[in-house]
Amino acid sequence: MSELKKIALKILSNGKGILAADESTGTMTKRLESVNVPSTPENRLLFREILFSSESMKDCIGGVILYDETIKQNSTSGKTISEIISSSGALPGIKVDTGAKIFASSNEEKITEGLDGLRERLKEYYKLGARFTKWRGVFNISNKYPSKLSISANAHALARYSALVQECQMVPIVEPELLMDGNHTADDCFNKTSEVLKRCFEDLVAHNVDLSGIILKPNMILAGANSDKKISNEEVAKLTLKCLKESVPKSVPGIAFLSGGQTEIQATENLNLINKYNDTNFIMSFSYGRALQQSALKFWSKNINDIKGTQKIFNHRANMNTFAAQGKWSAELEQK
Ligand code: G3H
Repeated sequence: MSELKKIALKILSNGKGILAADESTGTMTKRLESVNVPSTPENRLLFREILFSSESMKDCIGGVILYDETIKQNSTSGKTISEIISSSGALPGIKVDTGAKIFASSNEEKITEGLDGLRERLKEYYKLGARFTKWRGVFNISNKYPSKLSISANAHALARYSALVQECQMVPIVEPELLMDGNHTADDCFNKTSEVLKRCFEDLVAHNVDLSGIILKPNMILAGANSDKKISNEEVAKLTLKCLKESVPKSVPGIAFLSGGQTEIQATENLNLINKYNDTNFIMSFSYGRALQQSALKFWSKNINDIKGTQKIFNHRANMNTFAAQGKWSAELEQK
């Protein structure tokens, strides 16, 4: 088995998943300010360090995606952030794209940037302890979107990024996110997600990316947030599995979903059903940002010195998602 596949499996096996703590400073500022905490480098680190030193890191979290600022910060204990994460058995990862910017020829669609100088940045991140990376392409869903242009340009960037990451002995997370915003139906989401995924894999193959050494981070198949045609969680799970079975090559070892604005419970419940019905060889796990952190952040903002209390809330969500990643979650477990 290749070293890259071993890394991917180490991150996602036995119900483990990924903690996406790679919010850019802009996004983290919004999250902190929404709970009235000033967004200073110290506060951003403080909250993240509380999560990274939680008990559940050992059994539930196989990898943590960091932002450039965090991987270069020193913890209050004097250890580097990578050392804290590694000491729990998880692997440090790093977001390497530099954000999604509006296309020159469009007012609404975005292209993710960050390829210039990436080879050099990857070497630096490897030295800082990173063993996997993330790049997110983002797509709107509507009658006319995503356009062919946005699909081809973002798929091309994801493929060039992945090839560079594997050259540097790290596992690329390939994240083409079709947003939940809008009033589209679940069928629209299914069709557009399938189109984007197929194109991404065509480009990954064209760029000689070893598909057994990547992790795919897709959206689930959901109706738009403003759609009046919502579907049941059972249907979400079945459509998501159908889409992935038809669009993802079998050599991909693992799929780790983003939560994309679902509530914490929705994200857990849908992942659980996906695993209940999973008749593929793909590991189906989580790479959640908001769906792992929201309640913990809310509690911490009101009880800033209560580290144990904050960790208890984070541990609970991490445990629930680890059950879900094995199809063993139930609503009763939420009460315990
Ligand atoms: O790129 C997206 C994040 O890593 C996952 O965040 O689970 O809040 O959608 P989310």
